[in-house]
Amino acid sequence: MIEFEKVCKNYCTSQSKEPKAALKDASFKIKDGDFVILCGRSGAGKTTILKMISCEEKPTSGKVLFDKKDLGKVKKSDAYLIRHKIGFIFQDFKLLPYKTVFENIAYALETCDHDESKIKDEVDQVIELVGLEKKRNSFPNELSGGEQQRVSIARALIHRPEVILADEPTGNLDPYNTRDIIKILLKINEAGSTVILSTHDKEVVNALKKRVLTLQDGSIVRDEEEGVYFL
Ligand SMILES: Nc1ncnc2c1ncn2[C@@H]1O[C@H](COP(=O)(O)OP(=O)(O)OP(=O)(O)O)[C@@H](O)[C@H]1O
Ligand SMILES: [Mg+2]
Repeated sequence: MIEFEKVCKNYCTSQSKEPKAALKDASFKIKDGDFVILCGRSGAGKTTILKMISCEEKPTSGKVLFDKKDLGKVKKSDAYLIRHKIGFIFQDFKLLPYKTVFENIAYALETCDHDESKIKDEVDQVIELVGLEKKRNSFPNELSGGEQQRVSIARALIHRPEVILADEPTGNLDPYNTRDIIKILLKINEAGSTVILSTHDKEVVNALKKRVLTLQDGSIVRDEEEGVYFL
């Protein structure tokens, strides 16, 4: 369970002496296994919410709870314990260019001493899940945008995270690849992971018929089951 209780986040900027509010008094709960869309225009605060869940940013005031743990009180050195429960998917994929599909995914495991055959089995499983068996030994520059995003999803899944945070994962993709990526996210959700998807793609929001939290200028202005695009 993820819970935001009256969360405000202010950022200091080089442009002004006054801190700027990126999130204002946000309260919501996300139950385990939910699929939730964060919808909002550029600058509305979507990434800020995701970064607070992954312990990259702390709230200025209010509470962010992850499985009842107050993330505002987690020490920097313990943040990895939270991040281990989370898979992060980015708009720009963030793949390592000199590593193959297999190596990009395996790399995420190698830091935790798994033995080689276990790594191979686990990586092959997630490669199959995203349908990239034929591209296993390709490098990122030999892949389409949609395929690169599938690699980054496979990498996010490798630790079997409780929660997937997908930050505009289809922002760089055409409608066909967008549909494929959304299908994979639905499959992951059906398998039990909580999925939080940030997007400003009207087609995606309206097709999904899932819960939508709409953000405007840092405030949550709507929170609806089977929500529609409203901006
Ligand atoms: N590290 C930072 N320092 C200062 N201001 C920041 C920082 N990160 C975000 N902001 C500001 O906070 C506000 C919310 O940013 P955020 O990245 O959460 O928006 P977003 O909804 O994810 O936008 P986009 O759709 O463009 O990714 C914006 O006004 C942004 O300029
Ligand atoms: Mg963003």
